[in-house]
Amino acid sequence: MPRPLFVTSDPDALDDLLRLAATAGVEVDVACDVPAARPSWDSAPLVVVGPDLVDRVARGRLSRRSKVVVLGRDLDDPTIWRRAVELGAEQVVFFPEGEPWLIGALGDAVEGREGMLLAVIGGRGGAGATTLAAAVALTAVGRQMRTLLVDGDPLGGGIDLVFGGENVTGLRWPDLGSTRGRVPAAALADALPTMAELSVLSWDRGEPAQLPVDAVRAVLAAARRTCDLVVVDLPRNLDEPTREVLSCACTTVVVVPAEVRATAAAARIASRAGLLCRDLRLVVRGPSPAGLTGAEMARALGLPLLGEVRAEPYLDRDLDRGDPPARRSRSPLAGLCERLLDELVEAEQRRAA
Ligand SMILES: Nc1ncnc2c1ncn2[C@@H]1O[C@H](COP(=O)(O)OP(=O)(O)OP(=O)(O)O)[C@@H](O)[C@H]1O
Ligand SMILES: [Mg+2]
Repeated sequence: MPRPLFVTSDPDALDDLLRLAATAGVEVDVACDVPAARPSWDSAPLVVVGPDLVDRVARGRLSRRSKVVVLGRDLDDPTIWRRAVELGAEQVVFFPEGEPWLIGALGDAVEGREGMLLAVIGGRGGAGATTLAAAVALTAVGRQMRTLLVDGDPLGGGIDLVFGGENVTGLRWPDLGSTRGRVPAAALADALPTMAELSVLSWDRGEPAQLPVDAVRAVLAAARRTCDLVVVDLPRNLDEPTREVLSCACTTVVVVPAEVRATAAAARIASRAGLLCRDLRLVVRGPSPAGLTGAEMARALGLPLLGEVRAEPYLDRDLDRGDPPARRSRSPLAGLCERLLDELVEAEQRRAA
């Protein structure tokens, strides 16, 4: 996802700019000279050029673009406006007066975008859906994607347990039950707990409750404004919040153990979820006691086969200890998650083109 770009080699200016970006809850790219700025110059949703590089950027044969701001150092410097115009800048900001404006501009620059939403659902109980959801979210973090893992199953016991994170402070779903309308995305991101470097929105161990669909809609929309990827672990009962997630998801993965009865159960889920999803795909979890193949299951279910994963040794023990999945070298699950992310990103690029 494109990020705002700061172009400066002045350490004081950069300190100030990074402080504002942190306040806005926005990740940025930094270029300390013109060649470093070139790759993201056209795609950055906002460019801030520091006072030290205004002239060099103006002469740097970069394309004319909108949403370029110059950071001025000296209010009494009459040349800064002319130099900013030469650069094609729309604005010159001075600190500290311009700080609130720039914080807002940084927030607006990234809030216009929408991160991908991946839903994961089990074809039968204990299929491995929660495990895959956590694994793919962790793999995305490993790719430097801003990722949120959302626990969509009020009866699942809390996905924070997968990370041994039950004592990590931060928001859980019960704190968000009365949420409506436009949620400030940066504030939400700040309030969520981080587990294994991943933002997690989990249920807790209190009384489970069904969330109002408005709360789910508002929270997911806010999360997608700051994240590259939101992964939702869904229950198999297709209640209203679950249907909302399915209808918003870019891709939904149904996880099915390679067994005949699991395939029969998954057919029920697939036929119902398939009415709501725009892209429903199959992940098969081995081993198959009777030699059922992923291709046979995909044919039986009428779903494209996204991948097959063989049983991961020690996974049950790791999960019980709160060691998250797909972190071992040569983990079969990690390999599947890499492929899944490749396909997700490609499908999104095709949709955007
Ligand atoms: N890739 C895998 N390899 C080996 N074991 C796995 C794998 N995925 C899941 N499991 C085992 O299956 C169990 C159930 O997994 P998980 O909780 O992810 O399933 P689920 O579909 O979310 O179940 P539920 O119906 O309870 O929501 C795990 O505790 C783990 O022991
Ligand atoms: Mg589960």
